[in-house]
Amino acid sequence: MGKTSAVIRLGYVHLRVTDLEDARNHYSNTLGMEVVHEEPGKLWLKCWDEWDHHSLVLEEGGVGLIKAGYKVEDTEALADFEHRSQQFGATTGRFSAGENHKVGDGVRITLPSEHTLELYTDMEFVGTDTGAINPEAWPRNARGVGTHWIDHALISVDDPPLIERFMTEVLDFQPAERAIESIEHPNLIGSWMSCGESPHDLAFIKGPNGKLHHFAYHLEDWGAILRAGDIFSMDDVPVDIGPTRHGITRGTTIYFFDPAGNRNEVFAGLGYRVHRDFPTINWTADQLAKGIFYHARELNEAFTSVFT
Ligand SMILES: [Fe+2]
Repeated sequence: MGKTSAVIRLGYVHLRVTDLEDARNHYSNTLGMEVVHEEPGKLWLKCWDEWDHHSLVLEEGGVGLIKAGYKVEDTEALADFEHRSQQFGATTGRFSAGENHKVGDGVRITLPSEHTLELYTDMEFVGTDTGAINPEAWPRNARGVGTHWIDHALISVDDPPLIERFMTEVLDFQPAERAIESIEHPNLIGSWMSCGESPHDLAFIKGPNGKLHHFAYHLEDWGAILRAGDIFSMDDVPVDIGPTRHGITRGTTIYFFDPAGNRNEVFAGLGYRVHRDFPTINWTADQLAKGIFYHARELNEAFTSVFT
């Protein structure tokens, strides 16, 4: 049975983009995030239903993931995760308040997959756009897609069993769903891992170390997914696949690309809750395409080849 993790959720994604103004237009006008801070070559953004200062940092120069931040409960949990990471053999470091704009002290972990994960306890609280007293259902002035919050990230790793072990043994995540070679040869290909009740807070599939497959925004429902697809056509956003449904997590989805080529997802329909006694679901490789794209039942070329 899974342990309760002291990791609360994905807090921020820090991303490289080739052109900051193109990225501003995509994330702010098309997706509807608000630019909350800027410095030369960098932008900080948040979604309307997020209460901390930001959830996305964009940095001009290249493409791909610089790091991802996960918020944890308290400083005791931070120290515990730091210690357990070191015992596992991962490289760790400390960062101080202010090193990340509006973020407090934290622990930086280099995963065995070469991804940088930052754990922190505090980010400046600003509140959601609808507030916490008698809130309206949604903000009337939302732009574009009107993404609610950044929900999860999917990264690529060369050694899936090692990373699943790290996430389980060090950070107390539990696998909600897994992709394996076959029942007879259960070699791990990918894992969708949860630190709370959401089907996945961090997922990974077999691929090159250090790379990002996508990060995803939560939307309300299938209608909102369809409307997002309409806006992507209006704004000439390259769509990878969808609107469709994932077998894995049962989420409805569109994969699309930002102007730099980083893959984004809009995602609705949290298919179930991951309680601590949730029995892990396994997908065998022969049915994996159905697990990923439930209707088409085949993987497109980009899905398996584009990592940034
Ligand atoms: Fe996703």
